[in-house]
Amino acid sequence: GPISRHDYRPPAWLVPDTRLVFALDAAATRVTATLSVTRNGEHGEPLRLHGAGQEPLAVRVDGVAVNDWRIEGEQLVVPLTGATHSVETEVVIAPERNTQLMGLYASGGNLCTQCEAEGFRRITYFPDRPDVLSRYRVRLEADKVRYPVLLANGDPVDAGDMPGESGGRHWAEWDDPFPKPSYLFALVAGDLAVNRGTFTTASGRTVALGIWVRATDIEKTHHALHALKLSMAWDERVYGREYDLDVFNVVAVDDFNFGAMENKGLNIFNSRYILADPDTATDYDYDGIAAVVAHEYFHNWSGNRITCRDWFQLSLKEGFTVYRDQGFSADQGSAAVKRIEDVRGLRAAQFPEDAGPLAHPVRPESYLEISNFYTATIYNKGAELIRMIATILGPQGFRAGTDLYFDRFDGTAATCEDFVACMEDASGRDLAQFRLWYSQAGTPRVAASLAHEAGEGRATLRLAQHVPGTPGQPDKQPMVLPLKIKLFGGETGRALGEEQLVLLDQAASTIVFDGITERPVLSINRGFSAPVIIESDRSAAELGFLSAHDDDPFARYEAMQQLMLDTLVAAVIEGDGDHAAVVTAVANTLADRALDPAFVAEAVLLPSESFVGDQLALVDPDAIHRAREALRRDLGMRLADQWRDAYEQAPTGPYVYSPAAKGHRRLRSVALSYIAASGAADAATIAFRQFEAADNMTDRQGALNTLANGYADEREAALDIFYNRYAGNGLVIDKWFQTQALSSRDDTGRLVAELARHPDFTLANPNRARSLIGAYGANQRAFNAADGSGYRFLADQLIALDKLNPQTAAKLLPPLGRWRRFDEKRSALMRAELQRIVATPGLSRDLFEQASKSLA
Ligand code: ARG
Ligand code: ZN
Repeated sequence: GPISRHDYRPPAWLVPDTRLVFALDAAATRVTATLSVTRNGEHGEPLRLHGAGQEPLAVRVDGVAVNDWRIEGEQLVVPLTGATHSVETEVVIAPERNTQLMGLYASGGNLCTQCEAEGFRRITYFPDRPDVLSRYRVRLEADKVRYPVLLANGDPVDAGDMPGESGGRHWAEWDDPFPKPSYLFALVAGDLAVNRGTFTTASGRTVALGIWVRATDIEKTHHALHALKLSMAWDERVYGREYDLDVFNVVAVDDFNFGAMENKGLNIFNSRYILADPDTATDYDYDGIAAVVAHEYFHNWSGNRITCRDWFQLSLKEGFTVYRDQGFSADQGSAAVKRIEDVRGLRAAQFPEDAGPLAHPVRPESYLEISNFYTATIYNKGAELIRMIATILGPQGFRAGTDLYFDRFDGTAATCEDFVACMEDASGRDLAQFRLWYSQAGTPRVAASLAHEAGEGRATLRLAQHVPGTPGQPDKQPMVLPLKIKLFGGETGRALGEEQLVLLDQAASTIVFDGITERPVLSINRGFSAPVIIESDRSAAELGFLSAHDDDPFARYEAMQQLMLDTLVAAVIEGDGDHAAVVTAVANTLADRALDPAFVAEAVLLPSESFVGDQLALVDPDAIHRAREALRRDLGMRLADQWRDAYEQAPTGPYVYSPAAKGHRRLRSVALSYIAASGAADAATIAFRQFEAADNMTDRQGALNTLANGYADEREAALDIFYNRYAGNGLVIDKWFQTQALSSRDDTGRLVAELARHPDFTLANPNRARSLIGAYGANQRAFNAADGSGYRFLADQLIALDKLNPQTAAKLLPPLGRWRRFDEKRSALMRAELQRIVATPGLSRDLFEQASKSLA
């Protein structure tokens, strides 16, 4: 049954020391674990160790074999008589048969681990919960030819060859002096090359850095190594956090369920977040690598030195660490563009989660399978909560709060409440009501209306908030919403006073501005200071005005998005739209030479089809597609010269990864997409020329995206050239699948079904599965084909994938949970597929939880 937050009990037994011996082998690995256990308080409870998928071959207590143990579900129960004992178990596991990629598994001929959240119990018997912190000493033994490199957490102690009769095997011992929970355990054994570097910490200690990959990929690791050094320096400068071990190793593997993992001193990464060179990785990939390298590194303090008491506190480490990596990335280039990207991501992934059947608070109350809670809500909304606290406290107050948190809870397993209490204690601010952000799910909606009494020189802003009901939470209390607000003069464009931070903490409130003689225009939620939906009555003229005159770049972007959204929603509802205001606003933005091209590229992009769908009670995917394509075509045609200028004037030259060069490339590809949208006869020729001339993946992929949406002969040619050029490069072939699954062509559903039978398609590799199935699920019109073929395809794939890898299957389910938003026919078809999934014999807990909640 479900696990509830309120059922938390401290562990009955602690494990101060753990000694592990691995006799590694892909088919059969023997794991011997020796746990020094101490009773936690006075009680007569036996020792309970989690285990999954293995049988104990031997159990010894204080060196003596015992047989009074029993198995209860996933637990090995060992009766103990005293207050301290040494408990030893032996198991044999089969890494090469581990298709779930949790625990110890094989990837590309190497062996590696993934333990968060509950994978360690698939390796050995242990109290596999985050509040049991132990010091690990680990011995690895393996064949010297197949596994020349042996890595584990902490510092290397010693290594050597095994005595003669053990036939070409060697060993290595590692010791991690920092007590850690089992989910941070890691080992790697394989044939790997290393790119080494060093970092000298603020206090003068030298850390040996290593990025480990297969030998042929070594030249693709420089960006990751550089990002790691930048991250280490940034955390010292911004949070006062220094690294604590003598070595820091990072290993890239091709088969990985998510982005990466912050194991103490031995991060393990999905290779897509390590490997980059200009020919195979886009600017977006480069950005993602730096962000994930930083994220995992920052976990050393926010996650490892201070971990989570239980998994309901997951956002304690994830929300805070995402906030930290966002700050790092903002400091590497344009902070405004980074904020725009993060908000776009939040709206694409978290807002729909909050509005659907899988909505849950940032600190959930219960779960069936914790893996299902590594969500955009825990990560990205969690980061927004930290950002709001930082906004409310100000920079000094926030830094004092994080200093206190790191100081007070170092070496412990803490809670979200502990974090908030530190913020209060360090700043003197009362965050009592703010805590609702942790317990109430749903995206607050704020109605904002500004009235002007010219004669009185007074402007009155009326604000009202409403938090919609979510599963299990029909009624909500008003939250604390930090809203940055500024008024501009509609005639002069001047700021009418300074920006204000309004803390809306009532259901409704009125703010009066005096000395406002000129007609004011409202700029609200500047910088996206609160993760809410603003419902304002601002006219198209006012939004157009803000898109040209607001002095907060995020607010300019936001005004443009709102204008586009209003236009598209009206077009969907009325069947036809007045595009004039959008065309003018886009024209002005393109003409503004003072703007950063990276910002312009973001500002002129239309909201996605699914974001338009999210604004409507009933989603008509075809009508949305038509309305959006019509607006794209109109923008393409009416601003044809400006798109050509933007395209031709963007400086090209050899590839450099810099904020400026990135911006030019981005604007160039966006301009190309509008040239194509206009229906220009030479569009495919231009795109193909860009595709062929490109010296980098960003331009090549930009051109390919445009070609893949169309029907020109150049499309086939480019896809073939791309495929042949990169045959054997898994990460690039993923792009080939993804680009086709995201295509706006009418026959995308049929193409996706064909691609699922392509020899390169496999469900065994999560990146590949996501590149086709995940991308298709995100393609609103194609996936929601009226005949239900998209729904059937997804359900078939998920049922097949669940048998191999339940976690990855469960992650791909949410598009089927949107049935309440569609017409009766589609809705019935979606529910039928969800029911078929739920009724599948042998379904995993992961997929069952997601499918059954989606039906409820
Ligand atoms: N802690 C890792 C990170 O945020 C991700 C682990 C994901 N685990 C899972 N069961 N989904 O970098
Ligand atoms: Zn994380």
